[in-house]
Amino acid sequence: MKKTFIKIISLVLVLCMTFPIVATATVGNDVTRVSVTINGDSSTARGFCWYTDEKAVSDLQVAPVGTDLTKAEIISGISYKAMKKYVHKAEAENLTPDTKYQYRVGDSETGVWSKIGYFTTASNTNDEANFIVFADVQASNEENFQSAAKVLQSAVNTMPDYEFAIGLGDFVNDCTNEEWDSYFRNFEFMNMNTTLVPVAGNHEGNLQWFKFNNMFNIGEAKGSPTITGCYYSFDWGDAHFAVLNSNDMYPMSASQINWLKNDMNASDAQWKIVLMHRALYSAGKNINKPDTIIMRNLLLPVIDELGIDVVFAGHDHMYMRTESVKDEKIQDYQTVTEVWNGESTTFALNPDGTTHILPSTAGTKRYGVNEDAIPPILQNSAVARDTHDGGVFATVSLDSEHFVYKAYMVDDETNEKTLIDSYAIKKTERNTVDEDYKELPTSILFTSGQHIITFIKGIISMVLSYFKLLFSLI
Ligand SMILES: [Fe+2]
Repeated sequence: MKKTFIKIISLVLVLCMTFPIVATATVGNDVTRVSVTINGDSSTARGFCWYTDEKAVSDLQVAPVGTDLTKAEIISGISYKAMKKYVHKAEAENLTPDTKYQYRVGDSETGVWSKIGYFTTASNTNDEANFIVFADVQASNEENFQSAAKVLQSAVNTMPDYEFAIGLGDFVNDCTNEEWDSYFRNFEFMNMNTTLVPVAGNHEGNLQWFKFNNMFNIGEAKGSPTITGCYYSFDWGDAHFAVLNSNDMYPMSASQINWLKNDMNASDAQWKIVLMHRALYSAGKNINKPDTIIMRNLLLPVIDELGIDVVFAGHDHMYMRTESVKDEKIQDYQTVTEVWNGESTTFALNPDGTTHILPSTAGTKRYGVNEDAIPPILQNSAVARDTHDGGVFATVSLDSEHFVYKAYMVDDETNEKTLIDSYAIKKTERNTVDEDYKELPTSILFTSGQHIITFIKGIISMVLSYFKLLFSLI
């Protein structure tokens, strides 16, 4: 009996010495907070970000579904310490367009890997895009993250063929390790199964320096700062998306504004879409604040000038969709009804303006309608309401001619979803690039003068706006 025991112990020791990987893997340096994000060309590249508690090697394997992932080339990334943990980043490049990929991230030396995740690259020939939009999860405890995750699970059930998901900022409330762990744990079903398009919110940007950039691996605009978030752009189908950083405030930097102009002018995509956290059109509690007023006065003329079709924003935790607006005035349009994707749909035909959409919140912190919102916000709204009974998500399907938007509220008690709004646009005239457009400078060195002038103009316009608001309230 004693001899058998000694043999077993010896065998265990020999195995541990022969296969140290197994011994190390039991230490528990788990891979957490895994996300795949836009990082360059949506049809050929992705950025990966993940965390470990202890120091580890940053390895990534990516392979088309149906092939052996364990034999895929190991892509080495980088690692550094953040939030008392280790953040890891790696990028996959030269992917094949329109292909479903599997991946895992971890440490090939210790053999500790994440679960297998999936994403699909955009087609470089197809004009379609199908995506989910949500705003302001902004939870601070497990229960509220679970509640928001249910809303997004309903979104995935509603659009199972979605290709990417846009999060309009404020993923967490206080930016603590506990909150981020809870967010990634509850949203793993989405973050590890699609491409995420994160927008920097004030809860992970203002006074939370570098937190947004430490949580996602995004290819920010060349030379742009990442202190309070980041701005970047990408194409999917026949749409061009510019993701703004509205933490870059007081007012938005001239560098970012010039970048937006250069970026949008360089694209001939049929749909031009802006994603940002702070809303330009909202009847929420933040809309009359000085920072928002300055941003509105600065950005709305730029949105008009660039012919942006739709702006999606968050921040104000209420639901709003404007009419098609330009120069702060409602633009009339004709409608056409036709069957698209098997559904009879009424489309706004070639509207000459921008639709601003604030899809309330996927979370549980919800605000009412601010009846004193600075004019003409409520006057220009098609829908302005609270969503006190449930969290909200939106879906968009588009091709070169059609843009179909739907918003749903998921009831807190029953978990049933209700369509609360829909809007569709049909465009028959093709966008073209202005060949005579001259690139504007984006370096802070060459835009500081412009920024000072914009700042002074912003303050003056803010004072005038407050006078306007005062007169509207008298
Ligand atoms: Fe916010």
